[in-house]
Amino acid sequence: MIDTLRKMRNSDYSKEVGIINTNLMDDKINYIVENHSFRYNLEKIVGLEKNRQYCKHNMQHFLDVARLMYIISLENDFNIPKHIIYTTALLHDIGRGEQYENGTAHNIASVNISKKILQECEYGDVEIDEILNAIGNHRDNIGKCTRLCDLLYKCDKLSRNCAKCMARAGCKWPQEKRNMKIIY
Ligand SMILES: [Fe+2]
Repeated sequence: MIDTLRKMRNSDYSKEVGIINTNLMDDKINYIVENHSFRYNLEKIVGLEKNRQYCKHNMQHFLDVARLMYIISLENDFNIPKHIIYTTALLHDIGRGEQYENGTAHNIASVNISKKILQECEYGDVEIDEILNAIGNHRDNIGKCTRLCDLLYKCDKLSRNCAKCMARAGCKWPQEKRNMKIIY
């Protein structure tokens, strides 16, 4: 034990983190979270899910998905820009409220809402197409699913903490798909 501690002290583990590079994130992310339509639709979801016992679709979920996507992208050298990952994750479920209100599939509603938000936040046409393709196909990663879309699909599922979920007895997720161990 003492040997292990001594080794850790002499290794990189003992070094301070130093200055965290805040320049890795494009400021557009913060335009998204301040955008009127984003805030309106997020508040709508939070209100409609107030009494929901199963997984919620709130800011915590959006950030959980973003961070998982970024970690896995880094681990695999996918070289997807950080702001593209975060934007995709922040917007992927923003149409949930419409699904509750009028039955529109939330991936389709999310694409429609996100398109206007992305234009208002001055994303380029190529970026918008890439992000909307991922959001539109994230319910089932078939068809025109890109790497960004596949990453979103998998991290959306991986973000759920099934092992400690109080509602798991009534959850429709099959046992074999549940996240029962901490992986990230
Ligand atoms: Fe989601």
